[in-house]
Amino acid sequence: MAESLGRVLVIVPTYNERENLPVTVGRLRAAVPDAHILVADDNSPDGTGAIADELAAADDHVHVLHRAGKQGLGAAYIAGFRWGLAEGYDVLVEMDADGSHGAEDLPRLLEAMGGGADLVIGSRWVPGGRLVNWPRSREALSRGANTYVRLLLGVPVHDATAGFRAYRAGTLEKIDLDDVQSQGYCFQVDLTLRTVRAGLRVAEVPITFVERTAGASKMSRAVFAEALWRVTVWGLTGLPRRFARHR
Ligand code: GDD
Ligand code: MN
Repeated sequence: MAESLGRVLVIVPTYNERENLPVTVGRLRAAVPDAHILVADDNSPDGTGAIADELAAADDHVHVLHRAGKQGLGAAYIAGFRWGLAEGYDVLVEMDADGSHGAEDLPRLLEAMGGGADLVIGSRWVPGGRLVNWPRSREALSRGANTYVRLLLGVPVHDATAGFRAYRAGTLEKIDLDDVQSQGYCFQVDLTLRTVRAGLRVAEVPITFVERTAGASKMSRAVFAEALWRVTVWGLTGLPRRFARHR
């Protein structure tokens, strides 16, 4: 029998997602009615923060964390994790606001966690994973990034950059969030690596990733450059440890 997971918090980072946020929150409320939702908004110029406030006023399962300005995906998630840990949630989920991650897939992620995983990743790159309308260029970037990460860091994960995932509270408590410096999307790789290096159990379940239909991606040259140099540094500084393990 799968264990009971306890209280679930879904953290949804937003920057200019005014059209997408209400749809995403509605889908979450329908698919996982017991879960709470924390919108972590970086003072979006398009007024997403005010929309989040309206959603929270109408529903006691919805909460909002207003941040001063755009500080990156990693910083938004760390602030959200701290909020959720302080409030005593047992499972903390990461999910994009733009519809790329289906709330309807979340029960399967939680089921895998109930089976004993410390981190469950909703994966595009395991059998059964699918892409809908993602530009070829983004697909190539994601595949390349994951190959680079697997070869250089030796993490046995197929989608280390994925942004749809569930952490046990205990996992986040063990991996030293104070030490995380990643600001952009390499935050995902950073936490995957920390989880693996802590000896915790990672499971991947296939998801369907659907390209957004409203708003724009915040992927940028700066986000890419940060990921490339940080992963390279982690790889080089981690190498002695990896060789030591195989001796
Ligand atoms: N608060 C906050 N601050 N939210 C942000 C920021 C930020 O600086 N940057 C992005 N977000 C939010 C977006 O509003 C969206 O809800 C989510 O984070 C993902 O951002 P996108 O810009 O839609 O990402 P993507 O579709 O290009 O990238 C996807 O693939 C990446 C690589 O696999 C996402 O799934 C990423 O999580 C993933 O790392
Ligand atoms: Mn997106």
